[in-house]
Amino acid sequence: MTMTEPAASHTATREPILKARNLVKTFGRVVGLDGVSLDLYPGEVLAIIGDNGAGKSTLIKCLTGAEVPDSGELFVSGKPVHFKRPQDARAHGIETVYQNLAVSPALDVASNLFLGREERIPGPVGKLFRVLDTKGMRRKAKEELTRLGISTLQDVTVPVENLSGGQRQAVAVARAAAFGSKVVVLDEPTAALGVRESNQVLQLVRDLRDRGLPVILISHNMPHVFDVADRIHIQRLGKCAATITPQSHNMTDAVAIMTGAATA
Ligand SMILES: Nc1ncnc2c1ncn2[C@@H]1O[C@H](COP(=O)(O)OP(=O)(O)O)[C@@H](O)[C@H]1O
Ligand SMILES: [Mg+2]
Repeated sequence: MTMTEPAASHTATREPILKARNLVKTFGRVVGLDGVSLDLYPGEVLAIIGDNGAGKSTLIKCLTGAEVPDSGELFVSGKPVHFKRPQDARAHGIETVYQNLAVSPALDVASNLFLGREERIPGPVGKLFRVLDTKGMRRKAKEELTRLGISTLQDVTVPVENLSGGQRQAVAVARAAAFGSKVVVLDEPTAALGVRESNQVLQLVRDLRDRGLPVILISHNMPHVFDVADRIHIQRLGKCAATITPQSHNMTDAVAIMTGAATA
């Protein structure tokens, strides 16, 4: 087994959209991240795998502003950034879907897409009385879903509680991918889903990738990871043990690296 680099075309011609160097994060005497680097290139699905406690969540929290690393560097499109809170990462187009679905069941699909960035009707009435531009948001929500290739959500006026688990996950992913996002981070998006719904979400991940939007996917599900990832970052004991591809390594190899039974 050999350590793999991204395809030559990546390194020769492309700047990573998101680049992390030597991230360290400690919690008292516990080392969450012990000098982790990562590159995310345009139009790729980068999976992050690793045993419980390996540092996956801490890593994505540092990438998305939910935790501030003790040391290390972060770059978005080559420019250094310092995220103090999730809003800072969002302002740079980095959107995260956390494991416990970030959707509001009672609201319809369009309202969920605009959650936290609601639009008022234009003019003084909207400004003064803060009247929501429901029609405008529904129209834009439809446009975004079409642009993202999300066909599983036909009617944006349906309350999310009436949707299937897979469709709800699609709403959460759409919300993260919409409105000019640069990076979508998904934490275990198929964990609570059945086979058919998981396949829908995996197809959605591929569609986003094919539209040029890079995706970071945290997953325990090896078949899902090997199905959809272009590269696989393996966390072990707070470090990156290896970055492999589904072409360079198989699932048994990946598990062996994850558990320390083998090195890349
Ligand atoms: N807020 C925290 N306080 C104390 N320890 C933490 C905290 N968050 C994570 N850790 C520790 O950091 C290590 C990495 O955890 P985590 O990133 O959650 O791993 P994973 O997501 O891979 O299961 C673990 O030892 C965990 O107990
Ligand atoms: Mg975790």
